[in-house]
Amino acid sequence: MQKKSIVQKSINKKNKTNRDWVSNHINDHYVHQAAKDGYRSRAAYKLLEIEEEYNIFKNVLRVVDLGCAPGSWSQVATKKVGATGVVIGVDLLPIDPIANLHFIQGDFTQEGVLNQLVDTLDGRLVDLVISDIAPNLSGIKGVDQARIAGLTELVLDFAKNHLISGGHCVIKVFHGGQFDDLVKLAREIFKQVLIKKPTASRDKSSEIYLLCRNKLVTTEHSKV
Ligand SMILES: C[S@@+](CC[C@H](N)C(=O)[O-])C[C@H]1O[C@@H](n2cnc3c(N)ncnc32)[C@H](O)[C@@H]1O
Repeated sequence: MQKKSIVQKSINKKNKTNRDWVSNHINDHYVHQAAKDGYRSRAAYKLLEIEEEYNIFKNVLRVVDLGCAPGSWSQVATKKVGATGVVIGVDLLPIDPIANLHFIQGDFTQEGVLNQLVDTLDGRLVDLVISDIAPNLSGIKGVDQARIAGLTELVLDFAKNHLISGGHCVIKVFHGGQFDDLVKLAREIFKQVLIKKPTASRDKSSEIYLLCRNKLVTTEHSKV
């Protein structure tokens, strides 16, 4: 019998992983629940679980959702803040419109997109920052870890400059090289940083969420 080449083995492994993912997805309780509840993605339940335990939307009117597509966190946020609130979502990808969501398509790390976001806020600080951002992965571990850590740092920087004093932030991070440094950085900005793995987050996934509570310092130039 002819031996399988390394490339063929790698394709077979990838196909098996894809098949496993599809099968897990179809049988997933949260996928069914999301379809029932009208959420665009099962990710909604990760945020809802954190909200149920910590009331992060209490007294919140202005929310920024970084990396919001396809939009389930924004759906949760717009419901929570109601018609008087403001939710701004940013993503590289387009999304179908969501009532009361101000959507900006673009890379939030680019100055132009960040300026658009700040202009939309009209100089005001936000009450809550949520970020489920996940970069496109190259498959090269070192490169991907640096990319993820770089994005997380920029999310924390955004929170540092645009979140009200005492405000909260939820950020997706991944276990890996820079995890401890990122937690340390978050602890310099917030009074308390909790590490959460919501039940809706798949065990196999190395994603984990930082619930950063009570921002310590406020920028002075904003209208609040
Ligand atoms: C896991 S998805 C977010 C799911 C979303 N929370 C939901 O509930 O529907 C991660 C998103 O981050 C976006 N993303 C990655 N890098 C980005 C960047 N630099 N700027 C804006 N969005 C980015 C991706 O396009 C992707 O849609």
